[in-house]
Amino acid sequence: ARPDALPRDLDGVRIVVSAGGTREQLDPVRFLGNRSSGKQGYALARVAAQRGAEVTLVAAHTVALPDPAGVRVARVSTAAELESAVNAASLDADVVVMAAAVADFRPAARAEHKIKKKDDGSAPTVVLERNPDILAGLVARRRPGQLLVGFAAETGDEHGSVLDHAHKKLKRKGVDLLVVNAVGEGRAFEVDENTGWLLSADGAEQRIPLGAKTELATTVWDAVSELLRESGR
Ligand code: CTP
Ligand code: CA
Repeated sequence: ARPDALPRDLDGVRIVVSAGGTREQLDPVRFLGNRSSGKQGYALARVAAQRGAEVTLVAAHTVALPDPAGVRVARVSTAAELESAVNAASLDADVVVMAAAVADFRPAARAEHKIKKKDDGSAPTVVLERNPDILAGLVARRRPGQLLVGFAAETGDEHGSVLDHAHKKLKRKGVDLLVVNAVGEGRAFEVDENTGWLLSADGAEQRIPLGAKTELATTVWDAVSELLRESGR
């Protein structure tokens, strides 16, 4: 759609979007990372700005992507940096969307020098510790009326389907909306198309058809716009 064809329903709404994957340093040359491309978060930021929002994009590591027009971009690397940047930007935000792939664990120690091989043929053990749950922190400190949106990449297993896990995660996380992607078989990561469901805190479940990440972004902002309207903003 041409930008001038889009609704301006997010005019003046202050929005924070996180995108990309964090990197947790092990030593000066190595890190634990993930396959997030950042494309979905960038699409969310771009579409929100086109619909009139004041957008801050907190970008961790992504494939090469142009800065979305009219968006403030803050670059970070680790989950700890992402947390500081998101928390600062969220203080006066109306909506926060956590599309970033945040590492759940980081090396408990970061070696000052490159870790060397030993002559005895042994391999080092990497000890991990938990990263903070950024979204949980946002939920705990939520401003009145602030909307919080999470993402979840799920696989079905013997304990339940993708949607069973996702409904539980939405409750557990305490978010207003949860975007669910079914992962595996080449879906969601490093591709331009995305599919899944949009779950709401009231239990509503909307199927998001396979389409461009721009279209998923549009579905999310339509739902956010509706919630803002209901809350009288
Ligand atoms: N998230 C976060 N901080 C973390 C981990 C995840 O803010 N340390 C956010 C993600 O950006 C996403 C949502 O939480 O919006 C759900 O992430 P997910 O990895 O699906 O959930 P987890 O609670 O980490 O559960 P799991 O053990 O299934 O990975
Ligand atoms: Ca996780």
